[in-house]
Amino acid sequence: MIVVDRPPVNAADGTVRAGILELAERAQADDSARAVLVACAGRTFISGADISEFQTGVQKPLFNDALEPLESCTKPVVASLHGTALGGGFETAMACHYRIAQPSARMGLPEITLGIIPGAGGTQRLPRLVGARAALEMLLSGRPVTAAEALEEGLIDEIAEGDPIETGLAYAKRLVAKGAPPRPTRERAVDAAGFDDAGIAEALAKNARALRGRTTQEYVIKALRAAVDLPFAEGLAVETELSNATLETTEAQALIHVFFAEREAAKIPGLPAGVKPLEINKAAVIGAGTMGGGIAMALADSGVPVVLIEAEQEFLDRGIAKIKENYDVSAKRGRFTPEAVAERMALIEGTLDNADAADVDVVIEAVFEDMDLKKRVLAAIDAAIPPHAVLASNTSSLSLTELASATKRPEKVVGLHFFSPANVMRLLEIVRGEKTSQETLATAQAIAKKLRKVGVVAADGFGFIGNRMMLDGQWRENEVMLLEGVPPERLDAAVEGFGMAMGPNKVNDMGGVDIGTKVRIELLKREKRAHPYHVVSDALTPLGRLGQKTGQGIYRYEKGDRTPRPNPDLPPLVAKLAEVHGVARREVSDEEIVERMILPLINIGAQILDEGVAYRASDIDVVWTSGYGFPR
Ligand code: COA
Ligand code: NAD
Repeated sequence: MIVVDRPPVNAADGTVRAGILELAERAQADDSARAVLVACAGRTFISGADISEFQTGVQKPLFNDALEPLESCTKPVVASLHGTALGGGFETAMACHYRIAQPSARMGLPEITLGIIPGAGGTQRLPRLVGARAALEMLLSGRPVTAAEALEEGLIDEIAEGDPIETGLAYAKRLVAKGAPPRPTRERAVDAAGFDDAGIAEALAKNARALRGRTTQEYVIKALRAAVDLPFAEGLAVETELSNATLETTEAQALIHVFFAEREAAKIPGLPAGVKPLEINKAAVIGAGTMGGGIAMALADSGVPVVLIEAEQEFLDRGIAKIKENYDVSAKRGRFTPEAVAERMALIEGTLDNADAADVDVVIEAVFEDMDLKKRVLAAIDAAIPPHAVLASNTSSLSLTELASATKRPEKVVGLHFFSPANVMRLLEIVRGEKTSQETLATAQAIAKKLRKVGVVAADGFGFIGNRMMLDGQWRENEVMLLEGVPPERLDAAVEGFGMAMGPNKVNDMGGVDIGTKVRIELLKREKRAHPYHVVSDALTPLGRLGQKTGQGIYRYEKGDRTPRPNPDLPPLVAKLAEVHGVARREVSDEEIVERMILPLINIGAQILDEGVAYRASDIDVVWTSGYGFPR
């Protein structure tokens, strides 16, 4: 029996690989052993190669050397999977002869999300198990499959529920009893059906969004070609060469940086040892508008019961109807079943009465952005909820410290700055007021994790991290270039060419030009900014040109169509503003556009670090990659 026990996630570093190698050789030599079981202790099967080794240098034995004696073993070798068998973990399982899994297990090769390709035989063994076309799909998407999907695809032999070591032993004994032979994956033939130009183009097109600006897919295709065209050993050598080459790419280094940055962001500096985050069993959300509805959905999606509080029945009914409508759209698109919609709706209880929040662990306030109103709402809910509960505000521009002063628990008040749509966007800025405790921040991070979001802590100041960099950096420069006479479509195209998900003018129209104006009005009460500061947007708002929702903003829209079209009303308006603000019209190159929209992020980012608004530089990267469309 080979049991890996390397907390927290059984990442296969050099020590683990040496252990597998030694025990596989011992099992082969041991005449009393009739079969070999590979399983793991703790919360998961091997979850991958140790990614930190990619940055520090890979120790010996190499993965392929450790897996060779397993696959060559003359006795049946069984892998028993639980948790997440990913990357090197799943490659270990594929080097075994038989595979069983817990019903909750998930498995796959997510390497492409790190800019690399598998290097422990994954690209050679996977096509031997599922065929080259299906392997291509798994490798390009990087999406792990469930145990049920794996069984259907022929990746595993059986699903068995129970302790993974016990189910594994029972399965191995059954194999021995029926005299099952060793079954090395490498000896199977590759089914190449569908792995042709048309099939490859189709798979690339399906994953085009995630692969925009990327190169790893080319390495994946070359490695699979080797699996199809060459004998196993030669294909494996090609994989090694390609896999090592991917590690050298800028894209791998960036993606691995972001992987660790996201996990680092969850750490609260100075959190006393032993302090545990509060467990969230029930939540309340106040305000059933755009944000409150989305936040309630995010909670229900994670199985947390939510009390949704409104001021008036009419607004409550409207809010709940909107939530139902959003879920129904997702169900229609096949994202979940009608039963799942019903389950989620059943978790959301609408009310007009704060007393219904008497047993919640957290409240998230999302009423209008108005200091006096928010203070009143917070003071009232403070009196209705249990003493242990955390009180959060979704404010995007008001002082959290001042909001907290309206309650008797300022140390338990925190900002949870969700992004719209709140049930979709991954970023959650966690705002610490002057009195917010470390323990409350730890709870806020636990909430982010529960909602499958990435939480980043920011100090309470002008625009926190993301909006500060956006307003003072990227978007401010965008507005100045509009005044200089550059059309919005050129500005957007240039930064999209750089890799940003969407140009600022399209984002502005999508979110609502007035939303930015309102945020700025509040923020500018806290600090002043040099002119011209967003004068184009702030001239459009009072004209009711609010973007997609009114059919006209920076761009123009046709009814029922979200395609941005050039707006003939914009140039005269911009020309007038340029004159008023003394901005000269000039020619601006695409290169200059990119520099003027990307470099300010570095400058403002440095200021933010200097001022202690962010704990660490990598937190700023996480904010921009997970919330503002900066290419990972
Ligand atoms: N190598 C090195 N460290 C790893 C790791 C890996 N493959 N996978 C996870 N870790 C570390 C994390 O950095 C984190 O460390 P920290 O606590 O010091 O911050 C810790 O293990 C727990 O990871 P976390 O992601 O917080 O746990 P989780 O339970 O939410 O998720 C996984 C577990 C395995 C699903 C997730 O970590 C993951 O997707 N890992 C990468 C898997 C992968 O891509 N493997 C292929 C690599 S070849
Ligand atoms: P919204 O106008 O859509 O919703 C606000 C809701 O609060 C309305 O349904 C209103 O009826 C309700 N409400 C008002 N007073 C109330 C009271 N006393 N008790 C209970 N409910 C009350 O606004 P929104 O866009 O959802 O914004 C809500 C908050 O989220 C604001 O603080 C805003 O700054 C912040 N925010 C908004 C966005 C965004 O993109 N819209 C993004 C991040 C944060």
